[in-house]
Amino acid sequence: MSIIGKDTFFKIFGSGAFNGEAPYYTSSDVEALIAFSRSFYPKTVIEIGIQKGATAKCILDNSPWIEKYVGIDVIPAHITTLGIQRGEVPQIAGECVKDDSRVELFVKPNGSRDLHPSDLPSADLIFIDGDHSKEGVLLDTILARQVIRQGGIICWHDYRNHLVPDVTAVIDSLNIKEGDHICLIENTMLCFQLCREGR
Ligand SMILES: C[S@@+](CC[C@H](N)C(=O)[O-])C[C@H]1O[C@@H](n2cnc3c(N)ncnc32)[C@H](O)[C@@H]1O
Repeated sequence: MSIIGKDTFFKIFGSGAFNGEAPYYTSSDVEALIAFSRSFYPKTVIEIGIQKGATAKCILDNSPWIEKYVGIDVIPAHITTLGIQRGEVPQIAGECVKDDSRVELFVKPNGSRDLHPSDLPSADLIFIDGDHSKEGVLLDTILARQVIRQGGIICWHDYRNHLVPDVTAVIDSLNIKEGDHICLIENTMLCFQLCREGR
């Protein structure tokens, strides 16, 4: 596993400091997403597993250059693959960002599993934080890699979160197979890959 120290990360990519409340799920890990946004000025962002949109709001409020923010989630009746994720399914996906005209939501019975790459725009930054099962993380990684722009960034949340160990297992196995292209930011649960290939 490639690991970049937190201080080094923020020296390279700049500050991720933001005003306002830290999002419930990403907490201070959102700073790395904001630092990426301030470094690369993404026009199009996709978040798989937008939930109520707290992280989306934090990113959008700190990134006036984002033109389109696509949020993907499941309908309230969806039964999540992992029992531990059942309580995360939002009644109103993206409700925190409902007034932001840059946001487009895909709320499907099976979330990202119901989407084909042709349904999605090419994206400069993709944040994977949806189904944390092995199959879910793998399918979302495959989908993200089909829609990321060349030179874009894919981020995964919950690496080394012991409550959802499949995320770590999938990223570790991709790294073993592919040669450590996915990097962990030390003392966070956020991993990222700078994508040399893309559409
Ligand atoms: C940990 S929460 C995401 C938190 C959110 N990213 C944030 O930072 O505020 C996981 C989300 O993934 C959603 N989810 C579960 N399975 C999904 C799937 N197959 N496709 C898309 N979203 C899914 C859940 O409904 C939930 O909203």
